[in-house]
Amino acid sequence: MTRENWTSSIGFILASAGSAIGLGNIWKFPYMAGENGGGTFVLVYVLCVIFIGLPVMCSEMLIGRHTRRNIINAMGKIERLSANQNVRFVMSALSAGMAVAFATMHAWLPVVLALAGVYLFAKKGFAILGWVCTIVALAILSYYAVIGGWIVEYIRLSLTGTLVPEAVEGVAAEAVAKTSQTAFDAYIADPWRVLVGFVIFMAVTGWMLLGGIRAGIERMSKILMPLLFILLLVVIVRSVTLPGAYEGIEFLLKPTMDAFTPQVVLMALGQVFFSLSLGMAITVTYGSYLHKEHNILKAAGWVGVLDTCAALMAGLAIFPAVFAVGLAPSAGPGLIFGALPAVFDSMWLGPVWATCFFFMLFIAAVTSSVALLECGATVFIERLRRGHKRGSRRTAVLIGFVLCTVMGLLAVFSTADWSHMPWLGKAIEASMGDLAKGNWLDTLDNFASNWMLPFTALCTALLVGWGWTPRRAGRELLAQGEDWRIAPAIWGFLLRWVSPIGILLVFLYVAGFLDPILKKL
Ligand code: PFF
Repeated sequence: MTRENWTSSIGFILASAGSAIGLGNIWKFPYMAGENGGGTFVLVYVLCVIFIGLPVMCSEMLIGRHTRRNIINAMGKIERLSANQNVRFVMSALSAGMAVAFATMHAWLPVVLALAGVYLFAKKGFAILGWVCTIVALAILSYYAVIGGWIVEYIRLSLTGTLVPEAVEGVAAEAVAKTSQTAFDAYIADPWRVLVGFVIFMAVTGWMLLGGIRAGIERMSKILMPLLFILLLVVIVRSVTLPGAYEGIEFLLKPTMDAFTPQVVLMALGQVFFSLSLGMAITVTYGSYLHKEHNILKAAGWVGVLDTCAALMAGLAIFPAVFAVGLAPSAGPGLIFGALPAVFDSMWLGPVWATCFFFMLFIAAVTSSVALLECGATVFIERLRRGHKRGSRRTAVLIGFVLCTVMGLLAVFSTADWSHMPWLGKAIEASMGDLAKGNWLDTLDNFASNWMLPFTALCTALLVGWGWTPRRAGRELLAQGEDWRIAPAIWGFLLRWVSPIGILLVFLYVAGFLDPILKKL
């Protein structure tokens, strides 16, 4: 069996945009922008995408395309090509640094993992990084799919017109929001109801992957991504034409110079990694199915533009409507699952807009979860070979599906709190120290996205920037036969200096090491 390719650049760009555009864009970005100075945050975010996010994204695509392997073999191969063999010891040192940071937070399980990392990175090199990326991708999927399950349930509620409990119809928006928030809290406290949505979401993800790269992911992305943007536009038009919507637009977009603080920069940077799905096996895996004649710089540029547009559009879809009905823009899932039902309830044809919105959210989430599962699937297909034969995609998808579903059960049964599994809850709270967040979903999210993503992104930047080196890797940045020397030179500079320093800053910030300095500013 030969390895598949994307049929076109567009297919690759849409699939990568699908992996990048997800829950991070639709609920996290608007809320973070709102809380961190609106327009100022947006401006800083865009600069971080251009100067830090895109150089790392290009290197991940390059690693994939050059090696045409799964993430584990790819990392190993790039290390063998490296001029500088010491990069792996830098990685060991970083791992030791993480162990110290975790120890100060009494997070003993992560301390043990980081110490194992110190040894394994020094001994086995970057192939271990490949394993780490794959495990993190599957772990993220296990809780991402739980949120995906909530969306499935909310589509059902919208379609049946029961998004807002019957009894409160006709009451002021604020009271409606309170009841829908209570309904949401009751829903996530009932693991059996959450389980249904979760399993449906995982099954859809697995089913989409069975078709492989062309017939599965590419075909799905070519239909779903344009549909996502159309649905976003529909909801935006409805939202901004509501009386009183202007306040919401202003809240999201108006820059205020005094809102510019170091925290805003660091928050924006952290969001860039999560949103662009960097530091994860995804971009390397998708890049490994890319042909030599495609221009990586252009592809990465398009993914960055689409991802940022989706985030801004989500803000425009949500805030004007929230302001128009007189609700306060609150944080996180509460805004979408608690406040938005009240917003839709007050609109003409509310259930129609609600269905459009939650269906759009479903598309965003499922195209990201497909990417997460594909990382594991590619690894299983290529490493479970018998003789010269590659493993079958069906078995690989099944293994990933079962692993994630079992891991996900932990999140399902502890979504509200640990009352369904008190023993396990106690053990996890004790071993995760200050990283623990009261339930498994938030604890794992905190560990994976605030710690593991910056770490793996930094290692990738160091491997390509200082090991493989931009001088050699840069030749492949453009399509075969293209000559545009300045671009690889700029990319090389950003990758070697700007990205690693930026990532290190995020890292130190999350670890709390920058607090004394920030307090003085
Ligand atoms: N980029 C996705 C989002 O913004 O929701 C989330 C995500 C997907 C993060 C896949 C990391 C990842 F590997």
